[in-house]
Amino acid sequence: MSSSQKPSVARGGRQASAGPSGAQLIVVANRWPIRRVERDGDTHWDLSPGGLVSALTPVLRGRAGMWFGWPGGDHETAMPRQHEGIELRPVPLDEAEYEQFYIGFANATLWPLYHDAIRTATFEREWWYAYVAVNDRYARAVAEAAAPGATVWVHDYHFQLVPKMLRAMRPDVRIGFFLHIPFPPQELFLQLPWRRPILEGLLGADLVGFQVHGAASNFSRLARRVVGATGTDAVMDYEGRRVRVGAFPISVDAAELIKRASDPAVQSRAVELRAELGSPDVVMLGVDRLDYTKGIDRRLMAVGELYADGSLSASRHVLVQIGVPSREEDPHYRREREHLEQLVGEINGAHSSVGRPAIHYLYQSVTIDELVALYLVADVMLVTPLRDGMNLVAKEYVACRVDATGALVLSEFAGAAEELRDAILVNPHDLDGLKAAIRHAVDLDPTEATARMRRMRRVVRRHDVHAWARTFLAALHEGCDDASPQLGRP
Ligand code: G6P
Repeated sequence: MSSSQKPSVARGGRQASAGPSGAQLIVVANRWPIRRVERDGDTHWDLSPGGLVSALTPVLRGRAGMWFGWPGGDHETAMPRQHEGIELRPVPLDEAEYEQFYIGFANATLWPLYHDAIRTATFEREWWYAYVAVNDRYARAVAEAAAPGATVWVHDYHFQLVPKMLRAMRPDVRIGFFLHIPFPPQELFLQLPWRRPILEGLLGADLVGFQVHGAASNFSRLARRVVGATGTDAVMDYEGRRVRVGAFPISVDAAELIKRASDPAVQSRAVELRAELGSPDVVMLGVDRLDYTKGIDRRLMAVGELYADGSLSASRHVLVQIGVPSREEDPHYRREREHLEQLVGEINGAHSSVGRPAIHYLYQSVTIDELVALYLVADVMLVTPLRDGMNLVAKEYVACRVDATGALVLSEFAGAAEELRDAILVNPHDLDGLKAAIRHAVDLDPTEATARMRRMRRVVRRHDVHAWARTFLAALHEGCDDASPQLGRP
């Protein structure tokens, strides 16, 4: 999870590779790692929210990479050229494109449809036209900047048409695509009026990567059924080309998080936080972008019922819930915020006492060090999305528990559940099951908690974000003569 901490814009690091012959490694992602925010009449560059940016930044930091994305906002102010040694290239959106491409097609058509249609997806032709136009703009910009034989790594649902478009312009480049969110089952994907061009767009890549095997096989099946690709789930043939498909579960920069969690200043902040919370016996924590996919309401309801039936008491237990503001222009998100704030108000009204709120709710970003201090103070971490591609908060929590204590309650519907089998797994739709899981986590025997946490820490340390990037890029270059770009640890 990113924070609103001020970024170090244009910090040192190795220069990106854009020479006269172009860039060797190009990343395409809708968000820049930093975004423009107008605050108190000034322009600020805050770190962008979300798992994609927090995963990609450490991988590209100080490397010879170029990042094409949207800087946010709509003003023609001066823009940073670099962030953490990554060369930034802006691709602007005008007002109509912001509405139709970003708020519309990306976040009101694809986002709900790909997340189990938790909210009804809206299909608008105007939005689709904007999606095509913006994808085309990115493909052209990248085609112009890429060195001969460059590697282009396209990220997420905003750019599913770019691989095919770019291949038509630059058949010499190696194209990888990675989807950070779920890829839906046939029954849902087939609703999409533009299902064919989207599958064709993705099949323009040499490698199409997903978070989990289920998503990869949903895609391969659809590619066979809708556009006549042939082959297995892992290796497909389409229009005379070979396209590899696979699962590449994303992860966190475990070493960096461990370093922060071991920092005495962060540890004393954790001690201070516990005191500020009234030194409760058990601190429970939720950290999410405020999104209807995250199941925050189910979690609040479960906690509220536990307070109501006396299983939890505000004198001994407390929940800290951080909701990082997200997509506030979208009515679904505005309604979700109102709904959550009403729930928090009801629960606090019924179960708090003066100076001892049952729930501390913050609708704001937190700095990375404050976040790590919160992970350190959290005896129980609640990660209960209704559907989530991976959920890096779960992995961040595990990485930060340097003393191997703490319990993680994790939704079965988060990609992370496939690796973190030692979490207390839960179906977040099942309110009684969720209550039982929270109770179980609160009461977990310390020896068992440590054994579980140690096993999860091994998983996260071994499969960190650098291993993810190396594996993806090695697979992208499998079977071709050129060397893959060097993306190991600095
Ligand atoms: C998820 C998506 C990212 C996105 C992030 C934040 O993690 O996979 O592509 O950037 O949410 O959402 P936003 O709409 O603010 O970029």
